[in-house]
Amino acid sequence: MFSMKACVIYFTTSGNTEMLAESLAEGLRSKAEVELKKVSDAETLNLSDFDIIALGSPAQGTEEIDETEMKPFYDSHVDELKGKKVILFGCFGWGDGMFLDTWKDDAVSHGANVIKTYGNLETPEAAALDEIKEIGANA
Ligand SMILES: Cc1cc2nc3c(=O)[nH]c(=O)nc-3n(C[C@H](O)[C@H](O)[C@H](O)COP(=O)(O)O)c2cc1C
Repeated sequence: MFSMKACVIYFTTSGNTEMLAESLAEGLRSKAEVELKKVSDAETLNLSDFDIIALGSPAQGTEEIDETEMKPFYDSHVDELKGKKVILFGCFGWGDGMFLDTWKDDAVSHGANVIKTYGNLETPEAAALDEIKEIGANA
């Protein structure tokens, strides 16, 4: 049993961000008890229970997080991120994953300690999965 608790909560359409979520959770499991949930199943979690909170979304709209599920979840829980270690991640289809910078700025403005953002162009390859696993292990 670990004394630290972490959760990885994500939205995905075609599975790309889900792959990152699974590898991040695997890395985090080396140091914490981990809950891995799709955002649609995450309402049962009490975010204040966790030391590390990781949120994942693909870029949607115009460089925005998913507006159907992740944005409503995030907006209703953002105050619970205050003082927590937060990791934001997700896949994108073009550009440089600018949505993650915007997301980070917003979380930081609510008092979150965003320790890392990680974006990947479309389907992650093995190297990307190793990289995000390491992020989890070192969080
Ligand atoms: C409606 C829609 C809007 C999108 N908007 C963006 C965008 O603004 N910027 C971007 O880089 N990719 C955008 N994408 C591409 C997705 O972010 C990309 O395909 C991603 O890998 C999907 O990840 P997922 O399988 O986890 O859903 C968009 C895709 C869709 C379907």
